[in-house]
Amino acid sequence: MTLSAEVLNHTIEPHGGKLINRSVEGTERNELIEASKDFPKVTLNAWSLSDLELIGIGGFSPLIGFMGENDYKNVVEHTHLANGLVWSIPITLPVSEDKATELNIGDKVALYGEDDHLYGVLELEEKYTYDKDHEAQKVYGTTDEKHPGVKKVYEKGSVYLGGPIRLLDRPKHDEFSNYHLDPSETRKLFYDLGWKTVVGFQTRNPVHRAHEYIQKCALEIVDGLLLNPLVGETKADDIPADVRMESYQAILNHYFPENRTRLVIYPAAMRYAGPKEAILHATVRKNYGCTHFIVGRDHAGVGDYYGTYEAQDLISQFEEELGIHILKFEHAFYCEVCGNMATAKTCPHDSSKHLHLSGTKVREKLRNGEALPKEFSRPEVAEVLIKGLQQT
Ligand code: ADX
Repeated sequence: MTLSAEVLNHTIEPHGGKLINRSVEGTERNELIEASKDFPKVTLNAWSLSDLELIGIGGFSPLIGFMGENDYKNVVEHTHLANGLVWSIPITLPVSEDKATELNIGDKVALYGEDDHLYGVLELEEKYTYDKDHEAQKVYGTTDEKHPGVKKVYEKGSVYLGGPIRLLDRPKHDEFSNYHLDPSETRKLFYDLGWKTVVGFQTRNPVHRAHEYIQKCALEIVDGLLLNPLVGETKADDIPADVRMESYQAILNHYFPENRTRLVIYPAAMRYAGPKEAILHATVRKNYGCTHFIVGRDHAGVGDYYGTYEAQDLISQFEEELGIHILKFEHAFYCEVCGNMATAKTCPHDSSKHLHLSGTKVREKLRNGEALPKEFSRPEVAEVLIKGLQQT
């Protein structure tokens, strides 16, 4: 979708000033598909395919392709692209050494999915090796292979391919088609709704009362909420995206004003990189047109790898450069004495009066078909989750 400057920049400028669109359409697309039959082929796993999509649709603006070595090193070492723009996580295309030797600089490479469908083309500008321990330590803060993001680093190919891409086809996301909008489309949506300020909310979990509380605190000060759940690859014990999507619709229908919220998928893979991923999440939501972004407790964290407020502390250092307002929330809970949701900033009572349930405990209860306390989860949400999880 091509937008006028007025619509495009209605809420906030894209990261780097320009919304990237690497999709090819019409005759040019047909010609490229035909030509690609003679190109060498690389098969992308689900993670790389979602990266390809996000580059193509402008979610990763200003990137126009998979990172070359200069950008890669700058991002890993200094949390910036080579051109000086803040960027926190390398977006790279790994292949095995054997595959890399088959490819020559200057080649056009056909990018297929694991379904053997052609999704894009890479103009190969660089091939380079990298230090996995160093990447893991710098991006994830650990080399422990029990960390799900680090595990992926050690599993992937040892050569990165760099260069601009063209997007020929999108992964379908058929089951979420009503909620599948590109950054140009969310920008148009916000313009049409007359929202000048929009808060983005990243999640890989169902929306429980604590999430709802911080979303509603934010809604008191901005025009609209973009509920933007990540639906790409997550670790096996996270709640599947289709079940979550149903639970989001349930909570929006029952507890949020229709004209103040929109649900749109974020088709990315989850890295679990905590602080560094919080920066990436904010950057991408800026590209979707959000002026504000929520970072709560242990954002994008997993296990005990990151401190509760480490993501907030790191993103604060880059907030001005990022240009999107970060709304930082303390750990929220239900207090039985207050009789409402609160945080340590607003509740004076002892923690024994606060309801805490771990993610593991919640999933265990749901899988056993046990209801969740209504102080923790809205009954309409719990009902969807129990039904969904018993079928998986
Ligand atoms: S995440 O991995 O996508 O960050 P999750 O879906 O749990 O996981 O969190 C979504 C957002 O809500 C994050 O910004 C997170 O910090 C915040 N959050 C989750 N639970 C709480 C809570 N109890 N109190 C405050 N913020 C929270």
